[in-house]
Parts: sequence; structure tokens; C-alpha cells
Amino acid sequence: MELPKPMVIDLRIGSMGEDARIERATRTIGQMEHVFLDERARSLMEAETQVYSVECWRPVAEGTEGGLYWGSSTVYPGVVGEEYFMTRGHFHARRNRAEYYSTICGSGLLVLMDDQRRASVQEMRPGTTHYIPNETAHRVVNTGDVPLRFLACWPSDAGHDYATIDDRGFSVRVMRRGGHPEVVAQP
Ligand code: NI
Repeated sequence: MELPKPMVIDLRIGSMGEDARIERATRTIGQMEHVFLDERARSLMEAETQVYSVECWRPVAEGTEGGLYWGSSTVYPGVVGEEYFMTRGHFHARRNRAEYYSTICGSGLLVLMDDQRRASVQEMRPGTTHYIPNETAHRVVNTGDVPLRFLACWPSDAGHDYATIDDRGFSVRVMRRGGHPEVVAQP
């Protein structure tokens, strides 16, 4: 294949800037029905409020075996009721595909859950680099007051399974209680 031209990432902020090869997506409060515990609080919020945004560089076609993708995601600060803003979260459609996350700025928690619904959390702060193993759902929660931005690298044939999480959610939620994050079981 023709060699892709290097991408330039501003490592101070994690962004890939204005490069035409970048695909962008945004998730707003209005698009996150039934993701947060307090659906009523969500429905009363401004629908256009951004919860997170993603920049994605996919140098090979989706599903290509042996390729890699690169992403930069930003989870904005905020709460829905008592629950911090977070990504929708997913398993990989191909369960035996892993991923790296590396935090650029901000602070939060990486929520991980295996196929037995056993959950754990890892603290995210600038520099923390997380290996997300096979068979493990992943979600990022911003528990700070500034945007939480992280880089990601994953296989081009991993795919995304959002439906499993849409059905049952994660087995824990991260709530703001007394101004601090608390990880709460969600059977
Ligand atoms: Ni992933």
C-alpha cells in the first residue's frame, strides 16, 4: 500500500487539528437517552450540550485485518443528575481485540468490565497509559472540572459492540457524591 503521510498531533492538547483525513463525531446530551441513571435529569438538559467528541484517523478500511486506528477523544466536564459525563462505552465486536488509551489532559476514571460483568476502574491523569485487554468493555468518565482528553490505538478489525452496553449498561456507575467521585454498584 502507499505509505500514509504522518499525522501531526498537538501533544499538549492531544488534538490532530484540521487534517482532512480526520473523521469527527460528537455525542450530545440529546443523543444519550437511557445511558445515564437519571433519565429525567438528562431529558431536562439542553439537548445540544456536548458530552464527548472523537477525532479518528483510519488509514485502512474498516475491518482490515492487521491494521491499526488512532483516535483522540475528549470527554467534557459535567454531570447528569449526580452522574459524571462519560462515553457510551463498548465491547469490541471482535472480542479478542485489545486497545491502548493514553491520557493527555484532565482527570477521570477508565471503567473496565469483563464478560462476567466484573468491573474495575483505573485512574486517568496526564500520562497514564492503559492496556484494555480482550473481552473487556471500556468507558471513560470525566470526574474533573476540565475536559479529559486521551489518545487511543486499536485494531482496524476490532469493530464496536454498543448494543450489549445499551441493553444492560456497566455493572458500576461513577457518581458525584459530596463533590467527589464514588463508584457505585449497578446490578
Ligand atoms: Ni474500544
